[in-house]
Amino acid sequence: MCGIIGVVGRGEVQSSLLDALKRMEYRGYDSAGICVRNSGFLTCRKEAGKLFNLEQSLAKSPLAGSAGIGHTRWATHGIPSRENAHPHLGAGVAVVHNGIIENHESLRKKLIADGVNFQSETDSEVIPLLLSTELGAAEFGTVEMAEAWQCTVEQLEGTYAIVALRAKGDDCLWFARRGSPLLLGRGAAGVYAASDALALAGLADEVLYLEDGDIGCISLSNVEIHQHGAQVERCWQSMPVSEQSSGKAGFDHFMQKEIFEQPRVIADILNAYVQGVDITFPEASLLDDAVLPNRIVMVACGTSYHAALTARYWLERYLQVSVEVDVASEYRYRNPVIGPDTWLITLSQSGETADTLEALRLFKSNTPDNLALTLCNVPESSLARESDGTIPLLAGVEVGVASTKAYTAQLAVLALLVLKIAYECRVMSEADTKRHLAAMRQVVDGMHVLLGHADQVQALTPLFDDIHGALFLGRGPCFPLALEGALKLKEISYLHAEGYAAGEMKHGPIALIDSRLPVVVLAARKYHLQKVLSNLREVQARGAKVILLTDMADQDIPDNVDAVIPLPEGDSFTTPLFAAIPLQFLAYYVARSRGTDVDQPRNLAKSVTVE
Ligand code: AGP
Repeated sequence: MCGIIGVVGRGEVQSSLLDALKRMEYRGYDSAGICVRNSGFLTCRKEAGKLFNLEQSLAKSPLAGSAGIGHTRWATHGIPSRENAHPHLGAGVAVVHNGIIENHESLRKKLIADGVNFQSETDSEVIPLLLSTELGAAEFGTVEMAEAWQCTVEQLEGTYAIVALRAKGDDCLWFARRGSPLLLGRGAAGVYAASDALALAGLADEVLYLEDGDIGCISLSNVEIHQHGAQVERCWQSMPVSEQSSGKAGFDHFMQKEIFEQPRVIADILNAYVQGVDITFPEASLLDDAVLPNRIVMVACGTSYHAALTARYWLERYLQVSVEVDVASEYRYRNPVIGPDTWLITLSQSGETADTLEALRLFKSNTPDNLALTLCNVPESSLARESDGTIPLLAGVEVGVASTKAYTAQLAVLALLVLKIAYECRVMSEADTKRHLAAMRQVVDGMHVLLGHADQVQALTPLFDDIHGALFLGRGPCFPLALEGALKLKEISYLHAEGYAAGEMKHGPIALIDSRLPVVVLAARKYHLQKVLSNLREVQARGAKVILLTDMADQDIPDNVDAVIPLPEGDSFTTPLFAAIPLQFLAYYVARSRGTDVDQPRNLAKSVTVE
């Protein structure tokens, strides 16, 4: 979702603003703009569409100046257009905003009644117009600005990360954060405010993560942060992202690169968390010697939700604990009965997903004594900071909007979590734990083999020409895999696809089946194989083309299947890790064949920071 950057530099800032915006393209956006200050004047340049349009415009006529703000907009209020793109201007101020100002209608009416003119349909434009009203026409100094800034922010309801720049009066970036991510950075060439650390790769050496409710300003010589009217100190930490780790490394797309990184990610997870039969999560040591709770609630969105669904099978089977899994946007509003002796596990790549964060807050406010754990790929994120314990996913920066390596990292960490608890609670023997850990170690090599089958999967793309949809079927832990395979295909190829529990097919989707509905069947020896094969035959009997992903021996594979993608033989924890790779390849190559924007698919955002 919207990406924010602010720079006060020691030299010209246009190129730093553009660099940062490029690094935030992955968040998803539909227009972009910058505003630069020069000799007491603010000049904006904004374009609808991709950043390329803005770059072209700036190449023709650059903006000079040593302070500026920039924004990639993911439309919520008002169509993607130049007028609605940020930054928005008030008299002598420019503002970029991520979030939703829920009371914007009433603020707008009040401002219009006072004679103020609006240029856009956005909720965000009320911010600079309120600020300039608070400031009045005069060129006040920093003290008055601090008051006006505070007064403006206090009138806003909803969620926001905001950065404001003044034409005159100070050399500061003014910021405020509530509900949307925002951090500060400093480096040799300047100071920064940005939506994420990736934006500042190559620019900042240190970053400071702002807390909800923080408000203040940063200049080359000073940073001031206030919370509830009192000045607060926050910690600077070294920059977590290098320029190198954020590139494509010779691959055509980030998604492709990230698919190929998966064996390395699994190896890193095993090296970091497993020593012999001991599984240790350093940042969640509160799990050591933990007593199994009565109930575990898992809450997440999208792909992370699918990982949680798979883990439910493992938790119930090996720990015999009652597990509830829900999408965060439903959980937070359905008045869930939480009760004592319940753990919450949230899962998130970004750690900034608005609904997941609110689900955590709801859980903690209802039952502060219950443990809330998160499995998250960004240890500095809001979700990680607000949870009682974090298990980092160690997947490295994931840039492709379609999550790949963070998903398999979630599955691997969840498998280790189940094994750890099962062993420590003595519901799994040492021999069984060792056997499962040995299987987990096989995943690295097995994934390498599967990555070698990329061409074989690519050759299947013609099966997805001229279709009216695609169906993915699986049972047991492979059912969530079917959901994930369908989601991947939908996200990046824009084809309609559905994942279904294979046994549910007869209860509806079977009506869709014909020769123009390819069906991907996930059939694993460990998960109800014969029942899945029966479903496969039912699909074949109705004329569908079938792609079978299986770890069955060649001689057992049913006849007349249109394509078979062999999986390494897995145990109950590892099959989902293997099956993920061909599903990701399938979506990737079908999307490529259709010429879509694989890394930044239309309408999607990487980090969904508004509900
Ligand atoms: C995954 O391919 C999607 N882009 C999306 O479903 C994503 O998993 C979801 O938005 C949750 O994000 P999170 O893991 O960062 O919380």
